[in-house]
Amino acid sequence: MRLAVCSSKGGVGKTTAAANLAAAFGRRGRVLAVDVDPQDSLGRAFGVVAKSRDDSLAALLEDPLADPRAVVRHAVAPGVDLLPAHPELETTAAYLTSTGGLTTSVRRVLRSLLSDYDHVVLDTRGDLGALTLAAVCAADTVLTVFTSDPGSAVGAARVAAFLDQHRAYENTSAVLIGVACTAWDQHGRAAREVAGALADTGLPLLTTRVPMSRRVPTSTLAKRPVVLSSPTSPVAAAYLALADEVLDAAERVAP
Ligand SMILES: Nc1ncnc2c1ncn2[C@@H]1O[C@H](COP(=O)(O)OP(=O)(O)OP(=O)(O)O)[C@@H](O)[C@H]1O
Ligand SMILES: [Mg+2]
Repeated sequence: MRLAVCSSKGGVGKTTAAANLAAAFGRRGRVLAVDVDPQDSLGRAFGVVAKSRDDSLAALLEDPLADPRAVVRHAVAPGVDLLPAHPELETTAAYLTSTGGLTTSVRRVLRSLLSDYDHVVLDTRGDLGALTLAAVCAADTVLTVFTSDPGSAVGAARVAAFLDQHRAYENTSAVLIGVACTAWDQHGRAAREVAGALADTGLPLLTTRVPMSRRVPTSTLAKRPVVLSSPTSPVAAAYLALADEVLDAAERVAP
């Protein structure tokens, strides 16, 4: 599976989800986590920071002759390798947009690495722009996430429409396999209304709801996703259940 975690707006839990899903998948297979966001938060979730652009995905996207294996960070967690981002990915993306190379760039970089891994998890920035499209073009499946914020239901529908459009353009064959709540406020009315609105859309709403938990920001400080730093906590259990649900959904789409 090559899973891109996407949303139409920022700050909804994509990076937290991508890091925890990668760590959960890494318990059973070989995983490559790919940070396609210039904020480089996915690397930071594992304590990895690229020292320079040359040490990151940005260099690989721009130079078709560069060796991706030289940039991959090995064993950032059990079963997990990582391709880090760097803030200069922003400049690289702008340059590749001007030359026409951005859309297929992530797919091209990953091609030679795929045989090393059972799963790839791509974290994207919080929009449906050209860099997110490049990540989606490298994916076969997409997960989008929502919170208890009423804007979230609209965001999930926007991701679905974005994918429909780019499948029609033949930019990607990736399928939306899940819409997951990554910050469930179990006592909040807004959360229930958002989930209710999503249930009515026909989008593939996943049943696992990751609870809001202070352990999540604490795990960011600890540079370990919560499934590794607090493996017996309810929030870790939810992320492990979400990982199973995502794998089952991917299996149904591409057995
Ligand atoms: N289940 C949770 N409980 C509590 N806080 C959470 C939870 N999930 C995520 N957060 C917090 O919400 C904030 C946003 O999460 P995250 O960085 O994963 O979102 P994002 O969608 O990747 O944001 P961006 O679009 O900026 O990349 C972070 O401070 C994170 O610690
Ligand atoms: Mg993020």
